[in-house]
Amino acid sequence: MKNEKIVRSPFFYVGDKYRLMPQLRQLFPRHISTYVEPFAGGGSSFINTQAERYIVNDINFYVVELHRTLSSYVGRSEELFQKLYDLISKYGLSCSFKESYVPDDLKKKYVKTYYAHYNKEAYLKLRADFNDSHDLLILYLLLIYGFNHMIRFNSTGDFNLPVGNVDFNKNVYIAICNYLNFMERSDVIFYNLDFAKFLDQLKLDENSYVYFDQPYLISNSEYNKNWNESEERRLCECLDELNRKGIRFGTTNLVSHKGVKNNIFLEWSEKYFSYDISSNYISFNDNRIKKDSREVFVTNYGNTKSKTAVVFDNYKKPRKNTEISQMCLAF
Ligand SMILES: C[S@@+](CC[C@H](N)C(=O)[O-])C[C@H]1O[C@@H](n2cnc3c(N)ncnc32)[C@H](O)[C@@H]1O
Repeated sequence: MKNEKIVRSPFFYVGDKYRLMPQLRQLFPRHISTYVEPFAGGGSSFINTQAERYIVNDINFYVVELHRTLSSYVGRSEELFQKLYDLISKYGLSCSFKESYVPDDLKKKYVKTYYAHYNKEAYLKLRADFNDSHDLLILYLLLIYGFNHMIRFNSTGDFNLPVGNVDFNKNVYIAICNYLNFMERSDVIFYNLDFAKFLDQLKLDENSYVYFDQPYLISNSEYNKNWNESEERRLCECLDELNRKGIRFGTTNLVSHKGVKNNIFLEWSEKYFSYDISSNYISFNDNRIKKDSREVFVTNYGNTKSKTAVVFDNYKKPRKNTEISQMCLAF
């Protein structure tokens, strides 16, 4: 799979590792029996990694239920698409994959936001119906049509995200097809637990590999709101425990951003192998952010203790880098 095209997850998750996977895959071990992901989110990492089996987890009940729901349509993709199109047409949402329903005058009036204007009313009805029924295919459509493809609930448990400026397009169709193909050929088990409880119940060995993509302590997003310094320390302890057991791990983190440093992680990572990666947080148009933001990948395996920085020009066109293949030889 190392040379296979990186595919998008159908969840289009904020903070996903889609753009970083070309770099991360080269730093993952060559042979993985059981691939374990305690913070799986939308799944961009595991669906782009080669392993004999996958055990993945997320604390968010709905994220896990969405994975279970979509993957239950393996071998029945036509049925899934028909159900989604029926809902789209029942609510009167636009669907640019099939044909554009948005009238030209609206497109002219709201040049950059016409999907949001067109879909707003239908989306609110869809949202209200999800809050009554908790139907997971409706939730999937809320994620597709919602602001930034996020999942967000208020304190009384109602989904409360506003409409986004997106619709069911060709990318969504392709991502669902790729996801179902992956699920069909792969042995995947989902868990819905806190990461430490999840890891406690697994029996892993030296051929297993655990990849951690925890919420980043020094950045903001919906799923970061319960992540704090004590969670960061709990994570570091958990990683040390895996190391003591001889289990390989890799973890990504943002160690400096907008003048803030993650000193807990930086100090902890000194005893392991650390690689700089070309970050989602680096704006190629804003040198100020570029200088200040640093995202790293830290592992407890490798063949050199040097802090070699593996820097790519651009995630789309990684520079041919012999250093990386040499480092991978020992995996
Ligand atoms: C950065 S996202 C993972 C993104 C994922 N790698 C992808 O590519 O889509 C972090 C995830 O950690 C989950 N999470 C937060 N706290 C957690 C905890 N204590 N245990 C397990 N998962 C947790 C969040 O729900 C979120 O989905």
